[in-house]
Amino acid sequence: MKSLPSGIQPDNIPRHIAVIMDGNGRWAKRFGWQRTRGHRAGADAVTRCVEACQDLGVEYLTVYAFSTENWRRPKAEVAALMALLDGFLVDRTPEMMERNVKLEAIGRLGDLPENVQERLRESIAKTSGNTGVTLVLALSYGGREEIVDGIRSLLRGIEGGEVDAGAITPEVFSGHLYTRAYPDPDLLVRTSGEMRLSNFLLWQCSYAEIVVMAKLWPDFQKADLFEAVVQYQQRHRRFGGV
Ligand code: IPE
Ligand code: IPE
Ligand code: MG
Repeated sequence: MKSLPSGIQPDNIPRHIAVIMDGNGRWAKRFGWQRTRGHRAGADAVTRCVEACQDLGVEYLTVYAFSTENWRRPKAEVAALMALLDGFLVDRTPEMMERNVKLEAIGRLGDLPENVQERLRESIAKTSGNTGVTLVLALSYGGREEIVDGIRSLLRGIEGGEVDAGAITPEVFSGHLYTRAYPDPDLLVRTSGEMRLSNFLLWQCSYAEIVVMAKLWPDFQKADLFEAVVQYQQRHRRFGGV
């Protein structure tokens, strides 16, 4: 077995890490560049983060790439982000195949431009047989929107007779969310020092351990993911117990 980075205990690796990749714009502005350049640099940080998760044997990595609120940004920035996403899927899919990465996506994917939806479907289909880490892109994702969509799905289930309205539990409801196939995140990492959830995985992060780092996302290195896991391993998860 591969040896783990120092300070990380092999028996307490988070199964699912969620990341709010924040600070691309501020990173670019520091150099006097356009925000878009920060987003481009941010795409490379995603690859480093995936590699770090693979080194540790993390099963699921969910990255917040575009929120439902991000549609409010200037048209040119939204267009640049969509073009970048398209390019990311084209360029990085072969690498995902080499590295055994399985790609999936959550969010209101139907709101994405047609070409991006198509690329996404292609990459997801191509990598569907891979058995390494699952990389979940949260795209046009909002936690409240997901909960509303989950309620709609439950209501359809009730109408269709597959759901017993009297027997709805948190577990049943979880099964109607975009994330139904994944365990809840154990660790939530946010870069750029902002201490908020920004509508990310509101239901699923009930008991996630939160690590906020000052570093801006394009500066994120594999060692930063390892450091977040070291912090996670020092926490005492009580889940309401003693
Ligand atoms: C995160 O970086 C990427 C997206 C939200 C798409 P930002 O674009 O939010 O960068 P800052 O937070 O303005 O620096
Ligand atoms: C959260 O970052 C969304 C993503 C990282 C995709 P934002 O930059 O949009 O969040 P706020 O505006 O600081 O809350
Ligand atoms: Mg931001």
